[in-house]
Amino acid sequence: MRVYCASDYYHASRAAANIISAQVIMKPDCVLGLATGSTPIGAYEQLIRWYEKGDLDFSRVHSINLDEYRGLSPENDQSYRYFMNTHLFDSINIDKKNTFVPNGMEEDKEKACRDYDEIIRAHGGIDLQILGLGQNGHIGFNEPGGVFAKGTHCVQLTESTISANARFFASIDEVPKEAYTMGIKSIMQAKKIVVIVSGEGKREIVKRAFTGPITPQVPASVLQLHSDVILVGDEAALEDFPR
Ligand code: F6R
Repeated sequence: MRVYCASDYYHASRAAANIISAQVIMKPDCVLGLATGSTPIGAYEQLIRWYEKGDLDFSRVHSINLDEYRGLSPENDQSYRYFMNTHLFDSINIDKKNTFVPNGMEEDKEKACRDYDEIIRAHGGIDLQILGLGQNGHIGFNEPGGVFAKGTHCVQLTESTISANARFFASIDEVPKEAYTMGIKSIMQAKKIVVIVSGEGKREIVKRAFTGPITPQVPASVLQLHSDVILVGDEAALEDFPR
């Protein structure tokens, strides 16, 4: 694993955006695995700036997002589809038909998961996967548990995730309790993975995930087994991390 420690969030975001740009330039028809949450927003903003300058072309890029709340429609401003449209897709020349987010409105859980795995398979997997890190070690919505779930599945969100995400909703009761998420196997099959971490609140979990035992109790710890992971963070998140 390579570690890139930047002085602050802005510079960590620029570094992550540089890696994504390099991927798009080297392989214009690449498949990007994208994440939501607050951490990648800075990288997406930087990509938009470079696109506006004429330095990047997303017209042949495909994207596959990690997860979506079950029960939220794309028009709901808390859905991850809405997040991706407003934070990235609406501001670059990606063809929305080439962007994929699990269908939160599909009530049949098995069908929703099967369909999404088929989308990932039909694209030949992911070239570059962007990940944030949950404070409980989750990646996507793969929550701590007894096993590493392989394919797309429906999860019951943990109390810790529900309260961490409550900041985006009017009240904690409005946070959906279930989500569809890409599985660990699909994430691990990505050719390259960039994990972005920022802030003191992630310091402890970064250390546990990347230097502690590999266990489904800390889902991100499985990334220690991937051969091409770059951990990009700011000093606040990486202060205690051996480099
Ligand atoms: C979002 C996702 C989550 C977040 C994680 C960190 O698509 O998959 O795993 O990456 O919850 O969220 P932030 O960046 O808000 O700390």
